[in-house]
Amino acid sequence: MNRMAILVTDKIGKSGLDLLRQHADVQEAYGLKGDALKAAIANADGLMVRSGTQVTADILQASTRLKVVARAGSGVDNVDVPEATRRGVLVVNAPGGNAVSAAELTIALLMACIRKVPQANASLKAGEWKRESFKGMEIGGKTVGLVGLGAVGKVVARILNGFCARVLAYDPFITDEQADRMGVAKVDLNLLLRQSDVVSVHVPLNDATRNLIGASAFSTMKNGVVLLNAARGGVVDEAALLEALKSGKVSAAGLDVFAQEPVVAGSIAAALIACDNVVATPHLGALTHDAQEKVAVQAAEQMVLALQGKQPQYAVNQPAKNEASAAVAVI
Ligand SMILES: NC(=O)c1ccc[n+]([C@@H]2O[C@H](COP(=O)([O-])OP(=O)(O)OC[C@H]3O[C@@H](n4cnc5c(N)ncnc54)[C@H](O)[C@@H]3O)[C@@H](O)[C@H]2O)c1
Repeated sequence: MNRMAILVTDKIGKSGLDLLRQHADVQEAYGLKGDALKAAIANADGLMVRSGTQVTADILQASTRLKVVARAGSGVDNVDVPEATRRGVLVVNAPGGNAVSAAELTIALLMACIRKVPQANASLKAGEWKRESFKGMEIGGKTVGLVGLGAVGKVVARILNGFCARVLAYDPFITDEQADRMGVAKVDLNLLLRQSDVVSVHVPLNDATRNLIGASAFSTMKNGVVLLNAARGGVVDEAALLEALKSGKVSAAGLDVFAQEPVVAGSIAAALIACDNVVATPHLGALTHDAQEKVAVQAAEQMVLALQGKQPQYAVNQPAKNEASAAVAVI
């Protein structure tokens, strides 16, 4: 009887790979796209990705065998979920496994922005001894508005409570009581934007959140606000942010994600990165050894459950005709 075949196209933690190998034949082929990805996927029952592989409708259409796409991480914006659903392909993810890492990077960007750590470090390394130009701001006692209070937002809120900041959150899917238990005041977006000294974005990228933080949102914010985005590039309108940084409306921005990644020369994102008051990292939020192992194991468990015909805990879609159950006998 044939073993299941799993194609892994982005590097995942070793523990996750080991788990997959116990149950299936695993092919690692990194950086595939276009025809090469289509050819490889045609022989796979499961596809394991992180954020690098674009699982478009075109790619999904190349396989009649594929049953499960697993995302080692939370965001599935690189997977055409509606097309997967239409084709009976189950999509699973690993939410929460990288929340601590993403939250800690958000805080790193915050502290770097408000204490000007990268700028002061570069100045000192250049042989200067400047102090006044790096005068900073405390976070204790300030108001921080979190747009999205899911796995990452909750950890950010917990850390900020430790800093004695006042934490506001806008998240229509969280109740007042849930927010209250986290020491967070649930407010509407307008109030959050008007009152926050720091605005940090923690929502998924979808049609409702694309450019959610745009020119109108910036005009509502306090003068000199700090903007953080370690969620997804498309949530913040980059042109509007560049304008707000230039006008001084936004005093500093910490950015881990961009509308187009990798960032290309000449783009608005490149202009943002070049600003003195921007601290930027190349999508490092989930990139810790700890998070990569956690999400790899979680995604591998979900993949194996799905291929065994069992209901995975973190199914992103519910395809009517999913053939993973037919795999029960062979995995
Ligand atoms: N930089 C990185 O490497 C990295 C790592 C992990 C997560 N992320 C990103 O961070 C974001 C948050 O991840 P998460 O794991 O917390 O996701 P999550 O699904 O646990 O939380 C998202 C929260 O956003 C809320 N939300 C959804 N639509 C909203 C809207 N229109 N307005 C306000 N709130 C809304 C949801 O109710 C939910 O509570 C995602 O975009 C994810 O892709 C980035």
